Amino acid sequence: MHRLRLDSSANHTPTYAARSFSHPIPKFALAERGLDPMVAYQLVRDELNLDGNPVLNLASFVTTWMDPTADLLAQETLNKNLIDQDEYPQTEEVHERIVTMIGRLFNAPANRDPVGTATIGSSEAIMLGMLAHKRAWQRRREQAGEPTDRPNMVIGADVHTCWEKFARYFEVEPRVAPMTEDSYTLSAADVAERVDECTIAVGGVLCTTFTGGVDELAEINDLLVSLESDKGWHVPMHVDAATGGFIAPFSEPDFAWDFRLSQVRSINVSNHKFGLVYPGLGTVVFRDRSDLPEELVFHINYLGGDMPNYSLNFSRPSNTVILQYYNFLRMGMEGYRGIVSGVLENASWIGEHLGANEHLQVINDASRFPVVCVRASDPERLDLATVSEKLRGRGWIVPAYTLPADAQHVQVLRMVIKENFSRDMGDRLVGDIGNAINSILGSGGAPRGRQRHRAIC
Ligand SMILES: Cc1ncc(COP(=O)(O)O)c(C=O)c1O
Repeated sequence: MHRLRLDSSANHTPTYAARSFSHPIPKFALAERGLDPMVAYQLVRDELNLDGNPVLNLASFVTTWMDPTADLLAQETLNKNLIDQDEYPQTEEVHERIVTMIGRLFNAPANRDPVGTATIGSSEAIMLGMLAHKRAWQRRREQAGEPTDRPNMVIGADVHTCWEKFARYFEVEPRVAPMTEDSYTLSAADVAERVDECTIAVGGVLCTTFTGGVDELAEINDLLVSLESDKGWHVPMHVDAATGGFIAPFSEPDFAWDFRLSQVRSINVSNHKFGLVYPGLGTVVFRDRSDLPEELVFHINYLGGDMPNYSLNFSRPSNTVILQYYNFLRMGMEGYRGIVSGVLENASWIGEHLGANEHLQVINDASRFPVVCVRASDPERLDLATVSEKLRGRGWIVPAYTLPADAQHVQVLRMVIKENFSRDMGDRLVGDIGNAINSILGSGGAPRGRQRHRAIC
């Protein structure tokens, strides 16, 4: 959200593109006359040089690199709108194929009628999943003659902000289990304390945004199963697998976090994270058509044909769907397995080497998900925000932040390791973090992090 700069009459200050500037170019208003395409291109490109380098951006989970052939396909399919299903039937076919492939990865039961759709990201996917659970709960309550005015949902403080957004936008009371000094994920006991007959769903996370941890999904499932049999409360679980959904199926195929758990009725994933597709693409899959009330699905006919649609917005690019299809064909299970294992190896190498630094404590060593998260051994002496700032000076984008309540006094530094992150880069990163810490603590001498890590190599 931005304040409109209606009071601004600022112009672009000519750079060398001024060779072709024949008139002032305002920054916050459309100029009367346009520019030669190459001049406009140069101007925009130069401006964007002020952004950080996506390759060194360890803050984001989102894909920053794809094959050059994928780039080509992306360019060729930029002009197709995914919503125009009747005009682009083959693109729609591809959409159906990738949603089905993802459903299979998540063990969607073949004896049910699973449904799903591409979204713009996990946020939309979570909102669609939870909206379906809210509406289904309302219908069940109405049929039972019970009030429907106080829906709630149970989540941990470890959820991404989009869950709170859902609660506020769609008027559902969030019952949030706080973090503690040593526990950063949602437990079955947390859920048991908060769940009741007005709970539309429990949100469980596979690889949290804050620390890369995993909620107690199997234990929460068992609790919900027993609540259904003992009290007759049907409380579904939505699993937020934004990041983990493209990791666990390849690294831990026997780990049952998905539709193998009976109360898991919907799952979201960000294809633009470890599906390895550029932003923005997510997916939501429902265990069974009955988990998505039919009244939420719109049937549109004005673009030709009957187009069933469940989404928050309408038009959207189709090229990310095409890119996901490309990746599935290009890599297959074997390709994804190889990438995931390489990423985990690099990430845990970094976790191990940061753990060898006496000034840091590892919260997540990235052995399961490629997120390295550390806190200071002595937070009084070492401010990780200053470490983050110093790393920015070296080009790295590594966020430092405090955890949500009741662990708000815990400050962490978190790195998401992606496919294009090499061991050489890891080596440099560990060294730069060691140097930053040493310069803050004023210990002088040789940079300790780098020395140790060399010794380990
Ligand atoms: C666990 C989790 N859920 C949801 C989201 C939101 O995903 P998106 O950016 O795809 O909307 C994120 C983003 O990082 C996330 O980490």
